Amino acid sequence: MNLETPMTPHAKQPWTPDSWRGLPAAQQPVYRDAAAVEAVLAELRELPPLVVAEEVDFLQQQLAEAAEGKRFLLQGGDCAEAFADCRGAIIQDKLRVLLQMSVLITHGGRTGVVHLGRIAGQYAKPRSGLTERVNGEEVPVYRGDLINGLGLDQREADPRRLMEAYHRAAATLNHLRALVDGGFADLQHPEHWDLSWSREDAGHYLETLDQVRNSLAFVQRLGGLPEHLRTGELFTSHEALHLPFETALTRFVPEKGRHYNLGAHFLWIGERTRQLDHAHLEYVRGIANPIGLKVSAVMTPDTLRQVLARLDPERRPGRLTLITRFGAGRAEAALPGLIACAREEGHPVLWSCDPMHGNGRQAAGGLKTRAFGDILQELQEVASLHRACGSRMGAVHFELTGEPVTECTGGMENLDEAGLQRAYRSGCDPRLNRSQSLEMAFLIAQMIREA
Ligand code: PEP
Ligand code: CO
Repeated sequence: MNLETPMTPHAKQPWTPDSWRGLPAAQQPVYRDAAAVEAVLAELRELPPLVVAEEVDFLQQQLAEAAEGKRFLLQGGDCAEAFADCRGAIIQDKLRVLLQMSVLITHGGRTGVVHLGRIAGQYAKPRSGLTERVNGEEVPVYRGDLINGLGLDQREADPRRLMEAYHRAAATLNHLRALVDGGFADLQHPEHWDLSWSREDAGHYLETLDQVRNSLAFVQRLGGLPEHLRTGELFTSHEALHLPFETALTRFVPEKGRHYNLGAHFLWIGERTRQLDHAHLEYVRGIANPIGLKVSAVMTPDTLRQVLARLDPERRPGRLTLITRFGAGRAEAALPGLIACAREEGHPVLWSCDPMHGNGRQAAGGLKTRAFGDILQELQEVASLHRACGSRMGAVHFELTGEPVTECTGGMENLDEAGLQRAYRSGCDPRLNRSQSLEMAFLIAQMIREA
């Protein structure tokens, strides 16, 4: 056993990939056939990992640089990836929109961008209730394709989905890697990037867009970019929610002397599963990956202090990203105390802003939506609070897609609630569409420049 294996505070037991078992674990599905689950997990443990430890360490290094203000982290993708969306065109569109946002942020914010998709494994969702009412019928909630299906006849947790998730994540990642290796993500080949917003669409961003196009052409003529502005790497992330599944993808890496979750580069713990002394914090405590932690306005500095001590006792740069998700108008009461706490405790955290999850609303027609204006307001509030506290918002976290969906209101298209039904495709939370994402990237670049 590795001598540095951390101890579990609850029982002073050493950490193992299974030391979370026996602790309370929120949001875990109940399966009818436990033996079938075990059989799938046993098979998963033998399959090749999706990522390798070197990549994970490289991401951690880049996140450490982002925490120091030398890079900017862009994390984004679906709320819940659907198995049915494991298709070339959809994956390409998503990568393209992330990269286009990256170009705008790189150009406008004069900073290198780290690309982290909510992709290739973002299949499990925490839910507020166990059941929901659909057409007058009480049915189990949809928990993400890892667990059950959105269709009303698929709501029972099915262990075969764990294997399907592995294969779909592998196929997604394989395609992403091929696109990146094939030059799709190369700033020197912007012909892949289709920055062709029509002149009308680009509206008041036209001038900036022209500047971006000019500088891309300039880069092409130069034949290269300075190293810190080069793009091309894409990392994967998902919420570490389904603990037996995550454990099955956790491997001991002898050369590093540590355990890694090799199902993704980056894992995060959601707002509903971050209880102290519960299973989720215990699980991520011992893995070597960089970890994200969602933080809402109910998080107190005292709790944060204990969470930081548990997840990052060595104060490793890049290890922890705190992803705040307060809601527009609610950061001011919460954020300064949390910033002070992390600083006093000496944790070199990367601060990220998720302006999506505190801004959910129900539209008049019943659909879940978020307003572009609320999302932007939270980003601006959080960025300026960091500035006022001598800190820095070094990352953003979005739910977005490259498809022309109609799920969030507002933006340049001025989508209103009545227009939401036109192309509402999310099985879970509403996402920014391509044009809303690009507009957001212009505004983020502006914010970074102002900071
Ligand atoms: C999410 O990121 O999809 C999510 C459920 O977020 P949170 O845990 O912050 O509510
Ligand atoms: Co969500």
